[in-house]
Amino acid sequence: MGFTIIKQIYRCTLGKLITWHVNARDQKRGLDFSREVDTKEGVKYGAPSTARTQHIVRKYFGDNITEEDSIIDIGCGKGRMLAFFAEFPFKQICGLEYVQEMVDIAKNNIGVLGLGGGVKIIAGDARVYEDLDQYNYFYMSNPFWEDDIMVALIKNIKKSISRNNRMIHIIYNNPRQENILISQGLVLEKEMPVFFNTKVNVYTFSAQQQTKNNVV
Ligand SMILES: C[S@@+](CC[C@H](N)C(=O)[O-])C[C@H]1O[C@@H](n2cnc3c(N)ncnc32)[C@H](O)[C@@H]1O
Repeated sequence: MGFTIIKQIYRCTLGKLITWHVNARDQKRGLDFSREVDTKEGVKYGAPSTARTQHIVRKYFGDNITEEDSIIDIGCGKGRMLAFFAEFPFKQICGLEYVQEMVDIAKNNIGVLGLGGGVKIIAGDARVYEDLDQYNYFYMSNPFWEDDIMVALIKNIKKSISRNNRMIHIIYNNPRQENILISQGLVLEKEMPVFFNTKVNVYTFSAQQQTKNNVV
């Protein structure tokens, strides 16, 4: 109870001030990692993963990544996690994003940061996007509200495994739709310690399900 009140007070005061300061500093550099974007259909939100998420991934997972690995951020927003992933030795880093205005901003951010050579951004819908065979890491930060999109994405990943059999890892920040992953045959590979209310889990296919995917 006490902690919840402190958290609320932090969000309304110091948290807002810090966000304002970080956004203003980014703007001076030509960057935009703020949470909202104006589109023809109105304001859309793509709340970026926070420094807390980055801390968890770096501390508990960072050492696993090698030059053999490639990652795609499903629903990459303005590309904040793509810039973070560029710190690791990934062979390929890609962001898939549905909202065109976010795609444009992500491309600009990646260009300003000088990461254009190593990071690709694709405008597309996770529901139908199937060019996934080169990735063994998938990152998601609670990107969908509709269950059918998550189901379609996991089916696309399974189809990709049936074309190119490999072990995959889904790093899932705020895993609200975990039940869908489990119902599609994924298992919890790593539960990272919760850090200031931020929860990040890693999912994979069991050896048995891997074989099934491979014969789908
Ligand atoms: C919570 S934001 C996460 C942004 C980024 N991954 C990060 O962690 O900083 C989720 C993003 O998913 C995008 N998104 C939602 N549905 C999508 C879909 N069907 N295909 C691709 N992107 C989608 C949204 O537009 C939004 O930018």
